Amino acid sequence: MAPVSARDRGRELSPLSAPCQSAGAPRGQATNVLRLAADGRIAGVVGLAQAKGTCKRSPAATFADMDKRDFLRTVGCAATAALCGDVSGGSDATTPLPMTADFWQQLRARYRLPEGRIDLEQGYYSRMANDVLEALVGHLRAVNVDAAFYMRTRQMDDKRRSRELLAELAGCGADELIITRNTTESLDTVIASFDWRAGDEAVMAKQDYGAMLDMFAQQQRRYDIENRLVSLPVNPTTDAELVDLYANAITAKTRLLMICHLVNITGQILPVRKIVDMAHAKGVPVLVDGAHAFAQLDFRIPELGCDYYGASLHKWLGCPLGAGILYVKKERLKGMWPLFGDPCPDQFIDKLNHTGTHPAATDLAIVDAIRVHREIGSVRKEERLRWLQKYWTTKVRELPRVRMFTPKDPLRTCAIATVGIDGVTPKELAKQLLDRHRIFTVAIDSADAGVHGVRVTPHLYTTTEELDAFVAAITAIAQG
Ligand SMILES: Cc1ncc(COP(=O)(O)O)c(C=O)c1O
Repeated sequence: MAPVSARDRGRELSPLSAPCQSAGAPRGQATNVLRLAADGRIAGVVGLAQAKGTCKRSPAATFADMDKRDFLRTVGCAATAALCGDVSGGSDATTPLPMTADFWQQLRARYRLPEGRIDLEQGYYSRMANDVLEALVGHLRAVNVDAAFYMRTRQMDDKRRSRELLAELAGCGADELIITRNTTESLDTVIASFDWRAGDEAVMAKQDYGAMLDMFAQQQRRYDIENRLVSLPVNPTTDAELVDLYANAITAKTRLLMICHLVNITGQILPVRKIVDMAHAKGVPVLVDGAHAFAQLDFRIPELGCDYYGASLHKWLGCPLGAGILYVKKERLKGMWPLFGDPCPDQFIDKLNHTGTHPAATDLAIVDAIRVHREIGSVRKEERLRWLQKYWTTKVRELPRVRMFTPKDPLRTCAIATVGIDGVTPKELAKQLLDRHRIFTVAIDSADAGVHGVRVTPHLYTTTEELDAFVAAITAIAQG
């Protein structure tokens, strides 16, 4: 296979695709809560009412019905930290894991999955639930019947409804959020919206996504700005270590700081709120790459305090390909240059939303995807994803020749983790996993970012049997 540039799709190398195409429940009866110890092992099982403490509902109450804040307050779970992007002090916390095998089996049945291949690469795009897919097809058909009549009479109202529901999910006003095609469009729109002058500086990390680093590099070539790149330690001892790293890169000339909420090549969750507070104290606005955090972690964007936030909805919300969001704090809107000219007054976010005619059915299906997401419940989703990751990483982390590129602290991670084997290139590892074990992952090989392994991303429909097969494959490959 021809080599793929390490910068392609944020350094993700796919064993399946050609160069440049490479990768980047129903309401359940959650009667039990598994307590997950900090090392990822199950520390015990308690009834839901017991775990929730003050919960007035019966143990059979669904998470979708529960007051999430009440739940979080009571159990003090890992999600509380991720809620505000604060990931310190996690190592001695316990994580409640609502689950019954039935619940996850029923959920799995709502997805059409490939036969004969275990899919552990949900980070690029994770498939829609069957009912979202069917709804999408229905929307396509309906729009096709009414065609231009639909576009001229109902399209804008429908899109507004999707936008309002997304804003509700994000916890912000609909006047601070627009629907975009993806994170790339969202973040690059912000980066290009600045009136850059020669000598201006921007701060970011070597572990950030390639497309955004490329956009900053373009501003460098075009306006002679300076990009200052920090390198993130995978296992920081404290949040302060990360905050200081960014603080030390900020100078009087810094005009923008970009951070990842959840780094795609390591799975590391950053203490966003703390970094934002530090940057704001120095007068620097913060742009957050939430490609993997939105709808994977349970949080509301305004709680992060950031100025700009971009995410893709086809990764963790289960939307059709080509849907994203851009959040801009109201007071930051004035003066932002849109990528495409628009007559909308400067203080309105709609000025950034002029991308021409686009697939209306995708916007419509956002409503269906949000419905499924809410049925699962974002707390339960985050906890299950973290549990799945810990399930396999604790089994391979200490194996001879195996190297993890993902934080050990469960609160600094969720679904994504990256594993390498000494003496086996990431591309070869991904190939062996696929060819010999029928397990699809994505190779990450970046000297710059210091990551050499395969990224493993389970989804809610991933079974422990599939993860056991992956652990067995890694063990066999590591044994040579
Ligand atoms: C951290 C990160 N940012 C941005 C992106 C770009 O997302 P999209 O291709 O949906 O624009 C990705 C894609 O994998 C990502 O992992």
